[in-house]
Amino acid sequence: MTPDTRTFHIQTFGCQMNAADSEWLSRSLEGLGFREAPFEEAAFHILNTCSVRDKPEQKVYSELGRIARHCKVNKIDGVTVCVGGCVAQQAGPALAKRFPQVRLVFGTDGIARAPEAISRLAEEKRLRLSLLDFAEDYVERADPRLESGRRVPAPPSVFVNIMQGCDNYCAYCIVPYVRGGQKSRRAQAVVDECRTLVEAGSREITLLGQNVNAYGQDKGADGASFASLLHNVAAIPGLERLRFVTSHPKDIAPEVVAAFAGLPALCPRLHLPLQSGSDKILRAMNRRYDTARYRAIVKALRAARPDIVLTTDVIVGFPGESEDDFTATMDIMEEVGFASAFSFVYSDRPRARATLLPDKVDRALAFERLSRLQEKQNQASERVLAAMVGSDSVILVESRSRMAAPPAPEASEPDARAPQPTGDGCFWQGKTPQGFIVNVRLDGAPDAGRPARDGLCDAWLGAMVPVRIEEAAKHSLKGRQAGAPW
Ligand code: SAH
Ligand code: SF4
Ligand code: F3S
Repeated sequence: MTPDTRTFHIQTFGCQMNAADSEWLSRSLEGLGFREAPFEEAAFHILNTCSVRDKPEQKVYSELGRIARHCKVNKIDGVTVCVGGCVAQQAGPALAKRFPQVRLVFGTDGIARAPEAISRLAEEKRLRLSLLDFAEDYVERADPRLESGRRVPAPPSVFVNIMQGCDNYCAYCIVPYVRGGQKSRRAQAVVDECRTLVEAGSREITLLGQNVNAYGQDKGADGASFASLLHNVAAIPGLERLRFVTSHPKDIAPEVVAAFAGLPALCPRLHLPLQSGSDKILRAMNRRYDTARYRAIVKALRAARPDIVLTTDVIVGFPGESEDDFTATMDIMEEVGFASAFSFVYSDRPRARATLLPDKVDRALAFERLSRLQEKQNQASERVLAAMVGSDSVILVESRSRMAAPPAPEASEPDARAPQPTGDGCFWQGKTPQGFIVNVRLDGAPDAGRPARDGLCDAWLGAMVPVRIEEAAKHSLKGRQAGAPW
């Protein structure tokens, strides 16, 4: 069997930048006449990969094996695999040598030319291509969602890239090697993209970069600072909410802290990776801030915006981490009270300097520390959510809820995971400005003069809905509508 040559299936690993890249790639391929298809039916399998830790990297190799086996067992010919993102940049053409189905490898700058390359591969069956060069400046990409005269409404919440790469060389990190040096996008291009998206119906924008606080500080930049970019994007008429990710504590400027007080659209939630609570370990990590500076930033942020919610990343078991260093991490986490934390056991990465450090922490001990930390953080996260019960907020409705509604009397076979329309109501999901997920049943249709969407239920997509929080679950909240939507 040979699948339809203009079908593709994308799998995405890693960070939000990869997720945004995959969405762009998918839109662009559709613009070239390709169609997204289920795993079993696709002629092109695209893997957008992450190499930040060993685990996501190994997943890519096992996925390449799975695709090869799937084709062999089911006697499927003509399947091509395209590997993009950070593992592609790191392993390069070696991937194509090891896995004959791989006919395209593209890096994080090369992705701009990937749609055109995939089109060529569909025509020329023996062709193999590699797009791994780093560009000097930020590479702008043609984006079908920005074309004038487009009819499809933009999603309520969207990501907009403001930079590529990173110059920080944290001792554990592979990112500067696989995504190249920092390259800021021109401020005008960012603002234009944001304005077009808002005009097409988006109400929330998240600005993306590996270290957004250093935006504008590289040589190709056009002089705009991150704070000024925030002001210019926040001023776009119709934009309700603005967020950004990720922030490096060493680069957060006082003007950015002040923006949390001065810009109502800027949401009171900030992801501020701590990595460790020990100054000795932070130094060894080359993070270039200490815990005193971290605490001072937290204090300033809370003074600017008392309801701000903080989240973080932590690495445990970095080389040389003693029990005391680990305890210091637990202590500062408790003191700050993060709403959530991504925590990882340190993993050696090719070319990262920490790979050469002595005093590697025993793996079993590191995993034991990780589970202690996660257990404590889970309790803290649950406390933060529980404290929201009884409060009022506003959600931006982003999707149907997976949560089951109470079965309607006439419903005979309720599917526990699918949203259950009851009467003319549906369960929906949206986020508060603080980024908490709220499930809420919404009946009828909002009557405000919002752009019409298909069907009664879809009418709620993109609505701002006042809610009263009634219950807290482990990772989300449940509420009821408490006012007129807009
Ligand atoms: N640019 C972002 C994060 C990039 S990677 C930032 O600086 O915050 C996301 C997270 O993965 C990092 O914050 C770190 O906590 C974790 N990480 C990166 N390299 C790692 C490694 N070698 N081992 C374990 N965790 C790692
Ligand atoms: Fe990696 Fe550090 Fe750059 Fe983040 S700031 S991507 S952790 S080198
Ligand atoms: Fe992973 Fe690359 Fe993002 S290594 S975290 S996908 S920058």
